[in-house]
Amino acid sequence: MTTRTATDSLTLDDLWPFAGLHVVSGDVELRYLDDDLLLRLARLAAEGVHAEDAMPFTTPWTRGTPAEVGRSVLTYHWGGRAGALGTDRLRLELGVVRAGEPVGIQGFFGTDVAVTRTVETGSWLGRRHQGRGTGTLMRRMVLHLLFEGLGMVEATTVAFADNGPSNGVTRRLGYEPNGVEILAREGRAVTSNRYRLTREAWEAQTDRPEVTLHGVEPVRELLGL
Ligand SMILES: CC(C)(COP(=O)(O)OP(=O)(O)OC[C@H]1O[C@@H](n2cnc3c(N)ncnc32)[C@H](O)[C@@H]1OP(=O)(O)O)[C@@H](O)C(=O)NCCC(=O)NCCS
Repeated sequence: MTTRTATDSLTLDDLWPFAGLHVVSGDVELRYLDDDLLLRLARLAAEGVHAEDAMPFTTPWTRGTPAEVGRSVLTYHWGGRAGALGTDRLRLELGVVRAGEPVGIQGFFGTDVAVTRTVETGSWLGRRHQGRGTGTLMRRMVLHLLFEGLGMVEATTVAFADNGPSNGVTRRLGYEPNGVEILAREGRAVTSNRYRLTREAWEAQTDRPEVTLHGVEPVRELLGL
């Protein structure tokens, strides 16, 4: 006979509050990447994330056979899960679901966030889901989570100069240019644009969509925010 203890009632959300985080706007949701959602997104990435002659990422994880690309999504995010909560680092990647269908990933990363209150965002959508406004909406949603939910004061982002849609979303959302850097991408030097959006600039925007946040308080507590 097994004996029940007080700890038997602890849920995943109790132990790992990130799992309970849920951001909703219209038919788009940002959700914790459990294994089921991650597998579906790995399959989506394996179908393609960009044109063959483009490379939006510093690490070219989208090159290779469909199985290699899908596997690299799994291993990157399995590693990232454990790294979500470092002593000084925060890294959280949320699945993007539109009308019940997994369409991409929206992440954010920061160092000493309780002190700096600054994070950088990054994202991708499956190719067939691009160009329909989802990238803009999911960025608006994560900005709402960061500023309104987690009390950040600045959000930054980067995009290679030749990535039209990513620079397009960023400029449209009122970020200011924050310098450029030259990075190595697949053996070639490429310009990467840096951008920043302050809390004040975000608050001044009058066209922000309605966004509902769930499960934020336990995350703030865990991160000391
Ligand atoms: C970047 C990404 C997330 C954007 O999402 P999306 O749903 O395609 O973007 P949206 O439809 O919301 O908006 C794209 C904006 O860029 C603009 N745009 C598209 N191509 C452009 C180009 N070549 N030059 C300038 N602007 C361009 C669009 O006109 C649109 O702006 P608008 O709404 O003001 O017209 C998505 O395209 C993607 O996943 N790309 C591949 C991976 C990637 O690049 N990730 C980011 C790495 S930094």
